[in-house]
Amino acid sequence: MSDLATTPPGGPVDRYAVVGHPVEHSQSPFIHAEFARQTGQALHYGRLLVPLDDFAGALRRFVADTAGGPVRGCNVTVPFKFEAARLATRLTERARLAEAVNVLCFDGDDWLGDNADGIGLVRDIERNAGVRLAGARVLLVGAGGAAAGALGPLLQAGPAELVIANRTVPRADALVQRHRAMAGAVQLRAALPAEAGTGFDVVVNATAASLQGADIPVPPGVFAPGALALDMMYGPAARGFIGWAEAQGARGRDGLGMLVEQAAESFARWRGVMPDTAPVLAALRARLAAAAR
Ligand code: ATR
Repeated sequence: MSDLATTPPGGPVDRYAVVGHPVEHSQSPFIHAEFARQTGQALHYGRLLVPLDDFAGALRRFVADTAGGPVRGCNVTVPFKFEAARLATRLTERARLAEAVNVLCFDGDDWLGDNADGIGLVRDIERNAGVRLAGARVLLVGAGGAAAGALGPLLQAGPAELVIANRTVPRADALVQRHRAMAGAVQLRAALPAEAGTGFDVVVNATAASLQGADIPVPPGVFAPGALALDMMYGPAARGFIGWAEAQGARGRDGLGMLVEQAAESFARWRGVMPDTAPVLAALRARLAAAAR
């Protein structure tokens, strides 16, 4: 059910893990170990590989096994974010709207589900990339779990317009309908990628297209001059979209900053202290660059 990395080597401490399938390449254990060191917190964060057909059972066994210390929470990754939302006993408002959970907090039978992906994306765009979302024209490509998690916080950042482009328009439409009340003055609409429009200041690729070796999921011309083109993936999976966007004059950015920012939001929810993300993002980039050599 699990790999041994969910058991701490020393005495009992509060335990956490990233739960998914696959999880072996997850950078979350490194990120949370850095946050714990930086903030002087005693905890262990491991990896939990769970079978595709038994997420609930595997998670319950993980939480029940307190030999190495109490299990306080986990991050949930592909493909279990929707299932995690159904398993949680309570949801934050942003997780309820997303119908997807990437953070769980365990307190006995109380399983609180949150979604930190969107706020992680917004912080990366605004603080790390230095792009103001208020008043901007934003194109969100994709309407799966990744896009759903991003939508609420993107709307709350107050863009002038937000278009959700997906090859399956009804999925994008469903997201629009669920978030209609939150959109307020933001012009929010769903579209086919070919009909999304042009001149966007920020384009976020939240599709799994690159993982499948498929073509870029939007037509050329979507970028305003100097636009930010952010792929939620990182490493080789992000290169196709970023290279294509840069060839059109956009500024490419991968999903590593979003990954570190959502981890910080998770850490703050669990531990009550917000870590400094900049040194951890720099360390992570250096670590991945060294591994690629
Ligand atoms: P995740 O949780 O990672 O978002 P998902 O829920 O399976 O995964 O959603 C994947 C997204 O990538 C969807 O928007 C999907 O489009 P559909 O809703 O039309 O399936 C999109 N996607 C996957 N492969 C794609 C491809 N080859 N071209 C364009 N979009 C693709």
